[in-house]
Amino acid sequence: MTRIFDPRVLDGKRILITGGGTGLGRGVAQRLVAHGAHVHLWGRRESVLAEAAADIATGYPGAIHYQTVNVREFDAVDAAVAEIWDRHGPLTGVLNNAAANFIAPTVSLSPRAFDAITSTVMTGSFNTTLAVGRRWIAAGLPGSVLSNLTTWVWSGSAFVVPSAMAKAAVHAMTMSLAVEWGPYGIRLNALAPGPIPTEFAWEMLNPTDKSSTGATQPEQIPLRRSGTIGELANLTIFAFSDACDYLTGETIAMDGGQRLAGPNTFAGLSVMSEDDWVQARAHSKAASASAKSARSV
Ligand code: HXC
Repeated sequence: MTRIFDPRVLDGKRILITGGGTGLGRGVAQRLVAHGAHVHLWGRRESVLAEAAADIATGYPGAIHYQTVNVREFDAVDAAVAEIWDRHGPLTGVLNNAAANFIAPTVSLSPRAFDAITSTVMTGSFNTTLAVGRRWIAAGLPGSVLSNLTTWVWSGSAFVVPSAMAKAAVHAMTMSLAVEWGPYGIRLNALAPGPIPTEFAWEMLNPTDKSSTGATQPEQIPLRRSGTIGELANLTIFAFSDACDYLTGETIAMDGGQRLAGPNTFAGLSVMSEDDWVQARAHSKAASASAKSARSV
């Protein structure tokens, strides 16, 4: 993909990515580092983080750090943020990216299953945002919080109800804190990417052939393809750069138009051929002519 940003556009930025050892978080981290940022990865598995950090550090020594942190636990989050401040200095940005999800009929969910997802997505995003935001406010520093959400924040989604609920809560946090923390120069925004295949998420969301649905399949997306990590990274770089300091409180969808092409619209008509349209027009003309002649009798 064409590199559209100056490779130094994020010079001086120190950005924390939760769930940064795998998938979208890792891919975005690599590109933030390649544009000048220093990045801190959080995750639950040390070996995964170490491997990701070693890979990303190639060519960018000293630009990547990691800590094993479970975002569900506020005390662990707060201690890890304190360690970043003490050893490296203040963060300038946070990417709430850690997620948990699996498809399941909601009637089958145990309280622990609900909690495993909501405590990662909702509580984890809140814990991280609060621990960092408090320090920014106390020190009089500006900051930027970005959260990776989904378009279910507007539509909800059957069979992934805890995830839809938790992501909608983070969407609400984004709008609410944009107002409450705006006077401190702290901005909150979110991205709602459509399907961007990553290995583990796709296993959780398409465990069998039969369970593959429109949510993860490209055929019904107006742009006829999934998104890419490079595209998500471009939007993330833009959001963390100084180019859009006036942007706050927004959840930006980047989904190839997927959310606008639901079964309640006529999006399915894109399969019609020219002949089909000629026939359709002939039918509607005939129907309209017979309605006119019925009125004139
Ligand atoms: C029903 C399930 C289940 C399943 C787990 N549970 N998997 N219930 N169906 N498929 C239940 C367990 O039985 C247990 O409840 C409870 O959930 C907690 O399970 P644990 O395995 O102990 O929890 P934990 O180790 O915290 O694992 C959480 C996890 C795991 C969600 C199950 O997959 C995980 O950590 N995932 C993180 C990464 C991830 O999921 N990424 C995908 C994000 S995709 P009981 O009562 O039995 O003890 C995404 C959006 C994609 O967010 C957008 C696409 C368009």
